[in-house]
Amino acid sequence: MQAYVFRTKSRGISIGFVPTMGALHDGHVSLIRRARKENEEVIVSVFVNPLQFGPKEDFKAYPRPLSADKSLCLREHVDVFFCPSPQEMFPNDFCTSVELSGPLTANLCGAFRPGHFKGVATVVLKLFNLVQPNRAYFGEKDYQQVRVIQRMVQDLSMPVHVVACPTIREADGLAVSSRNRYLSRKQREEAVKVYQSLYLGRELVEQKIVLDSGRLIKRLSQVISTIPSSRLDYISIADPLTLEPMNKIRRPALLAIAVRIGKTRLIDNVIIT
Ligand code: PAJ
Repeated sequence: MQAYVFRTKSRGISIGFVPTMGALHDGHVSLIRRARKENEEVIVSVFVNPLQFGPKEDFKAYPRPLSADKSLCLREHVDVFFCPSPQEMFPNDFCTSVELSGPLTANLCGAFRPGHFKGVATVVLKLFNLVQPNRAYFGEKDYQQVRVIQRMVQDLSMPVHVVACPTIREADGLAVSSRNRYLSRKQREEAVKVYQSLYLGRELVEQKIVLDSGRLIKRLSQVISTIPSSRLDYISIADPLTLEPMNKIRRPALLAIAVRIGKTRLIDNVIIT
């Protein structure tokens, strides 16, 4: 990978990079197309990163439809489809990690998935070193992840431009996700309430009906509680840059949610302007 990139970059060719864990869907495709538009070469990585899964999470069960992913990348005119093995990426003697401190990783998903963002930052830094992209594309669906990567790149003076891309949704509003395929038909129907609660929250704030975080969270939790066998991890209203929680809602604000429906954990967010 590094030898290839060295040859490509010495010819002055710009590289756009889309890191993924595979099971590619319309959300990933939107990043690939944006990268295609803005760069001469596009590299997509598929690597289910063991470091970012907790011991009780779905690392083993995570879908790995590698040949379908490869065909999709061919159709989208991706130049390099990079899928290193776990052994190549993290051999037994691997012992280095990157960890961000403070509210960026302490809040939201950080509070429910200890070590998750450490695993994400470590693998993304390694992938950036392998691929050496000019631009790297991330989805705002994983809003906290984008902020963590932007912070890491800034803090460590990494020569890559991080591009945040809008969330792609199904027709009913549910954010497209590799994990949606875990949902039963009934659960899939109910999952639309995750987006509906965010939409309602945004309306209530933008029309100045509710400007207190506690009240808003209570109201939206009621919507979520009507989803059978659901468990709310969090609804959070936070500063979009620092991710510090807000009591009185100022704008812009990030309204973010994480819910388990059965065994499937879904996350989503909107920015309230
Ligand atoms: P993965 O979940 O495969 O997502 C890869 C990229 O696709 C991420 O930047 C994610 O935010 C984006 N994405 C997912 N669903 C999207 C949607 N509905 N709309 C727009 N973009 C969407 O995120 C990861 O993998 C990993 O943590 C990774 C960054 C690859 C590190 O292992």
